[in-house]
Amino acid sequence: MCGIAGYIGPRTGKDLRDLLIDELLGRVEYRGYDSAGVAFVDGANLSVVRAAGKVKELGGAIGDREIGTPFIAHTRWATHGPANEANAHPQTSCRGHVAVVHNGVIDNWKALRKALERRNHVFRSETDTEVLAHLIGEYLNGDPLEAVRSALSEVEGTFGIAVLFQDYPDLIVVARRGSSISIGLGDGELFVASDPRSFRSFTDRHVVLEDDQIAVVKLGQEELLIQDIDQVPVSVKVEQIELTVDEIEKGNHDTYMGKEICQQPDSLAQTLGGRITADGRVKLGGLEDHLDALRLAQYIILTAAGTSFYASMVGEILFQEVSGLPARAMNASELAGQKHPVFPEQTLAWALSQSGVTTDTLCAMKILAEMQIPTFGICNAVGQDIARTTQAGVYCRAGVETGVASTKAFTSQVAVLQLVSLYLRQLRGLPWDEGCQRHLSGLQAVPEIVRRIIDQREVIQHIAEPYRFATDFYFLGRGILYPVAMEGALKLKEVSYVHAEGYSMAGMKHGPIALIEPRFPTIVLVPKNDENYAHNLTNVQEIRARGGPVIAIATEGDEEIADLVDDVIFVPKVMYYLMPLVYVIPLQLFAYYIAKKLGRNVDQPRHLAKAVTVG
Ligand code: M6R
Repeated sequence: MCGIAGYIGPRTGKDLRDLLIDELLGRVEYRGYDSAGVAFVDGANLSVVRAAGKVKELGGAIGDREIGTPFIAHTRWATHGPANEANAHPQTSCRGHVAVVHNGVIDNWKALRKALERRNHVFRSETDTEVLAHLIGEYLNGDPLEAVRSALSEVEGTFGIAVLFQDYPDLIVVARRGSSISIGLGDGELFVASDPRSFRSFTDRHVVLEDDQIAVVKLGQEELLIQDIDQVPVSVKVEQIELTVDEIEKGNHDTYMGKEICQQPDSLAQTLGGRITADGRVKLGGLEDHLDALRLAQYIILTAAGTSFYASMVGEILFQEVSGLPARAMNASELAGQKHPVFPEQTLAWALSQSGVTTDTLCAMKILAEMQIPTFGICNAVGQDIARTTQAGVYCRAGVETGVASTKAFTSQVAVLQLVSLYLRQLRGLPWDEGCQRHLSGLQAVPEIVRRIIDQREVIQHIAEPYRFATDFYFLGRGILYPVAMEGALKLKEVSYVHAEGYSMAGMKHGPIALIEPRFPTIVLVPKNDENYAHNLTNVQEIRARGGPVIAIATEGDEEIADLVDDVIFVPKVMYYLMPLVYVIPLQLFAYYIAKKLGRNVDQPRHLAKAVTVG
């Protein structure tokens, strides 16, 4: 949440402006895009330019003006105060001699602000961040690193910060607690960012700050100066950035979301690659050192947020039915919000996350750790906080996901859950019958089935577009497709801003059906080979009887459903457990085409951000 960028180097003029807007800040814009700003050394002063809105608005505000270096920059997802220019970062000290960009939340900002105001500091924004600028300014006395450390010692909460000083115009100080900061090592230039994709086009080497570390970033220093909060020097570990430049580009697509939906045949193949042996077993290297903990588990908790939570709901069913273990999916913020959660002996938890930095999920994990429940991870982004705080885990290998709406990460998470549930079944010595073999071979066929659905995307577009005038939708599914209905509704809401609710197919008649009328379409997930097919048809009839339009996602060749509903999107037949991987694809495309037709920015929907690093 919020993107930080910074630069020290020889570039000037238009080159430097383009670097700021199109590259360093533009590449982290997915993290928040309510407002943007930059502070740079301008002769003997610090200059600040800020603008409400997206990074390109900042470009407009800078215009032809010459910016200088070092600079620190920010793209914001608003937490404290509206998304206006005054609340945009960088925030500055009273004298304007210290500028700060910040990702995270300062929990005790109100108390700090009151104390600073009593000492005659004048505040100009409603942000929590501004207190940092004032505090650092107050502590500044000959040593910028020391000033930052002293200020941070008063702070409760989370931060990734970059600080620029008028009196030390050759350096940037960065610090981290809970919000990532990495330092890019270029050729005669240095970068700072909350995500290395900011500077990946210029270097593939970086240093990742750990929590409670502070660093001085300065050209010409033999080595970066990094210390921990107790002033102990930290040895600098230079890492290779795994990301390729291709992965962070849109390629032939006009949006990241479109690219990522279409990548799913490949991302799924990557997820499965090397994890199914020639003799039809599952092999998960990341779990091999933890077999005892996995074998002993008697109860499974899955915890996650948003789309990852819907994947967890699929996992709940898989763990129960495939691995034979009682399981419960818990929305991470609800788990963290429970006063006294109680779980049985021998509980084992799985935390799911695309980004690996979601604060709600990290908070849930903290509670699980306090209860001494071992927690394993299913993450996409490599080496992020959630992956690092779990005992072990399985990476999704979906590749970089930039579109704010999660698509390929969902299908890869569900594919990993298929593998893990079968792996646990193997470990627990349950019969490895013909059903398991069919499950595995069916799973291997999924990438090609997904490709076939994506290949008929124009048909889905054609069906979707007339529905763009609807202001409300229901998405209904049963059993393993219930979470998929929820995910379909979330996709439509977040990218098109159209109201949509995911609901249980049969639960519909217990209240929600009251809203059905001719302008309220319902999307139903009705596979022919579901043992509840007949019940599902009855539920569809109930909607039709009340004049509600119905779009069915159904099994190829199902003429019965085609006669009953207004529109059908056909998908190939797959076994029950694999249905989420197949039925979600038309829902992603449906949301995508409606949103595009409504002129929405599908990659950066309003009010959202890709990584939610606030609780
Ligand atoms: O990175 P995570 O998977 O932990 O993120 C969880 C949610 O914030 C995320 O899935 C969000 O709901 C997406 N915008 C959904 O498309």
